[in-house]
Amino acid sequence: MSKKMIIANWKMYRSYTDSIAWSKEHKQELVDLAKKVQLVICPELTPLATMATIFDQTPIALGAQNCDYILEGAHTGEVAASSLAQLGCTFCIVGHWERYHLFNETLEHVIQKINLLLAHTLQPIVCVNDQNFNEQLKALAALKIPSLIIAYEPVNAIGTGTIPDLEQLNTTLLSIRQAFTIPQVTLLYGGSVNPATIDKLAQLTVLDGYLIGSLRSKQRVVGFLFL
Ligand code: PGA
Repeated sequence: MSKKMIIANWKMYRSYTDSIAWSKEHKQELVDLAKKVQLVICPELTPLATMATIFDQTPIALGAQNCDYILEGAHTGEVAASSLAQLGCTFCIVGHWERYHLFNETLEHVIQKINLLLAHTLQPIVCVNDQNFNEQLKALAALKIPSLIIAYEPVNAIGTGTIPDLEQLNTTLLSIRQAFTIPQVTLLYGGSVNPATIDKLAQLTVLDGYLIGSLRSKQRVVGFLFL
């Protein structure tokens, strides 16, 4: 059986110094965890380069939480996919509901980002939510790329502590699998994955892993998985 994939999305809960201190303090635990799961940590942008040094020569991978949808240009404050690759990260989250909802991103932006990331050998972690769900699946299937990481994140489950009805969730996850003819879809679930929900979610054999968010503020994002 292949390892489950765990994406830790730190959102904007860990500062630059906290991220670095935490990574140093928990390096060994993370390395041990990464023997059991495929671990990708997505901190804020600022500690990424230092964390890449800390986790160099370990199985722990790093991801960014976002990139811009053009490669270069007058987009003040944005970050290019090409620069992320230079920083030492290998993954990047795109299409997160918070980006759609708070920053007015569109599905077109997400598709542009995916293409840019792939062109720079970064692996996109594509979030799919339950709003205009079919449109998202259609646009992703049309890309016809050989492999895709999809994290299904129903909006009402993000940061709320509640997960959807398991049977319903299973049906939705199976429909995502069926939407793709390409063989390699790594299918993740995100939204209130925590110590209270993980046992239930583990019953969903269709899943290849989880995208784990903030657990609200300072709690260790992947800490409960050390147990
Ligand atoms: P949550 O966030 O685990 O805090 O619900 C998931 C996400 O937004 O990716």
